[in-house]
Amino acid sequence: MGGLLGTPGKALALGAVASLLVLVVALATGSGIDAVGLIAVLLRWLHVGAAIVWLGMVWFVNFIKLVAIAEADQPGRGAILKHIVPRVALTFRRASHLTVVTGAMLLFTSGYLGGSLVYASAVFIPTSRNILMWAGVVAAMAMYMFVHMMIWPGLRLVLGIETGTAEKVAAARAKVATYARWNLVLSVPVTLAMVAAAHS
Ligand code: HEM
Repeated sequence: MGGLLGTPGKALALGAVASLLVLVVALATGSGIDAVGLIAVLLRWLHVGAAIVWLGMVWFVNFIKLVAIAEADQPGRGAILKHIVPRVALTFRRASHLTVVTGAMLLFTSGYLGGSLVYASAVFIPTSRNILMWAGVVAAMAMYMFVHMMIWPGLRLVLGIETGTAEKVAAARAKVATYARWNLVLSVPVTLAMVAAAHS
């Protein structure tokens, strides 16, 4: 395997080029789109992509990694902690940043915030959509805080980036597992709220 498929980055770039080609063809044959509309589409694309990666990691951690660590022998556990966990942690931390930043920008392009700044006049959003969106945002921000204030600090101890007593490391391991579970719980209503807000 080489060339365009040689690294995940190149494969991702190939997918992005193919997507943009489809978008250009669709725009050329359609009735046109204004600049804000185009930005909103691209933002939504990035937002959903980042959310897929983040939630993919949440599912991976809960259904695969924690189970594998519980079942593995000592060398296996060491290998998982050395080769897999740091990469997973870096990926979900970055994906969570991108999801929140693009989500915050979408609040403006979708009219939930500052509609009259982006468009010619304020955007009317029905109450039901506002409830769905803001409930989704609150739950998603709780997920974000769990990642950066509970899971990552705990993982730093588990991975030995920070040193601590055996009791502290054991408590950190339990904390990471608990908040990974909470993020699995919250990922379900957040996804429903976001999709329902966008399509109702
Ligand atoms: C785990 C976190 C999140 C997930 C899984 C998620 C997922 C999604 C999904 C699937 C959509 C629907 C796109 C569509 O069907 O068009 C969406 C839309 C949206 N999301 Fe998120 N999102 C998350 C976090 C956030 C955050 C933190 C914010 C704001 C700070 C946000 C703001 C928005 C907005 C404004 C829309 C567009 C809604 C509309 O057009 O009515 N999201 N999100």
